[in-house]
Amino acid sequence: MGTDIGGIVDLAAMGQEFAKAPYRVYAELRAAGPVHRVRMPEGAEAWLVVGHDEVRATLNDPRLSKDWDAAAEDTPLISVASGKHMLISDPPQHTRLRRLVAREFTPKHVAALAPRVQRMTDELLDAMAAAPDRRADLVDALSFPLPMGVICELLGVPSLDRAAFRAWSNVAVGSAPVDEKAVAAKEGRAYLAGLIAGKREHPGDDLLSLLIRTTDEEGDRLSADELLGMAWLLLVAGHETTVNLISNGVLALLRHPDQMAALRADDGLMENAVEEMLRYDGPVETPTYRFTREPIEVGGVTIPGGGALVLPVLADADRDPARFEDPDRFDIRRDARGHVAFGHGIHYCLGAPLARLEARIAIRSLLARFPDLALDVHPGALAWREGMLIRGPVRVPVRF
Ligand code: HEM
Repeated sequence: MGTDIGGIVDLAAMGQEFAKAPYRVYAELRAAGPVHRVRMPEGAEAWLVVGHDEVRATLNDPRLSKDWDAAAEDTPLISVASGKHMLISDPPQHTRLRRLVAREFTPKHVAALAPRVQRMTDELLDAMAAAPDRRADLVDALSFPLPMGVICELLGVPSLDRAAFRAWSNVAVGSAPVDEKAVAAKEGRAYLAGLIAGKREHPGDDLLSLLIRTTDEEGDRLSADELLGMAWLLLVAGHETTVNLISNGVLALLRHPDQMAALRADDGLMENAVEEMLRYDGPVETPTYRFTREPIEVGGVTIPGGGALVLPVLADADRDPARFEDPDRFDIRRDARGHVAFGHGIHYCLGAPLARLEARIAIRSLLARFPDLALDVHPGALAWREGMLIRGPVRVPVRF
């Protein structure tokens, strides 16, 4: 458990220990109550909400704002987004921005991408199989390039400098100091602005071109700032998360040989297995920031108004024994429905159908290609991404 400093639990002081094993820490906090003041690895103080019902209620509470205008004036945090986007907006702006792209991400629309996702996966696995020592880092070989490739193709930015964008994006969503985040955000913004300018000159049959010329039924258009925000959000949300669904999911299988064997024996379990991967070790530990517009009561505790930062812990909601029996057991046959790995309420993940499609294809193809896939490191030696937003290993060394 983190050091308790004047009623504030100091998660920052726990470093890698917390990044490696946050579930235990959250469970201990939950045993003491649903709301805790904490110091985050990111440096700020926040009101942490644990427990399935409380997390769900918090995610759906209209008194919490996602707009940075609502943040307390003295917050040490900054918005790292390039431009205004739906995930840092409240209704009615949120409704409007989401509606402009929602139809591109419906399950039906996304299903049509399956052949392209399969082709990209096969190419990546071909390259992985060619390693002379039959070893690879799964993150570099598959988990990162697949979602990044898919979202780049969808947006129509095949020339995106993926290494540079990955570096900016990792800093933006990690636990780096605020001034480092500000530099990364600025560089990312300038780069994206250039990319959009190029697309304006040479439009194509892709999502970014569509967004540039889009006009919805009411004659709505994205402003230049909103266009930048949308492109940034889709690129970041489109890869930072799915990377870790693939990595965490494969890692869970490698660490539970009985579950791996069951999945290899029956591909019909794949859909449910991916839901269990999302529940058991989802990529988003706590979602993006929410700020109080007025005091709110959660589980008998009053969180002050005036822009206090509230963090509902998705990772804990999905490990709450009051909602999921024996929650620390990875069981690909269990009914994992009702998990909140994709959030809940009006900001429920727009990309969920795409993430599910990518994960199913990636994991199915990986298992088919490498019958003897094994972890090439002791699980305890894996380094985990720091910060409370993203949950995932930095590298996953495998042999095959
Ligand atoms: C396994 C992969 C993914 C996970 C676990 C995930 C998780 C989430 C979560 C938890 C939220 C809500 C955050 C909050 O309420 O603060 C969210 C929102 C969002 N996600 Fe995802 N996501 C994934 C993949 C994707 C992909 C592939 C895309 C897009 C291409 C995407 C686009 C978005 C967008 C646009 C929002 C904002 C929705 C809104 O504000 O209305 N996500 N995601």
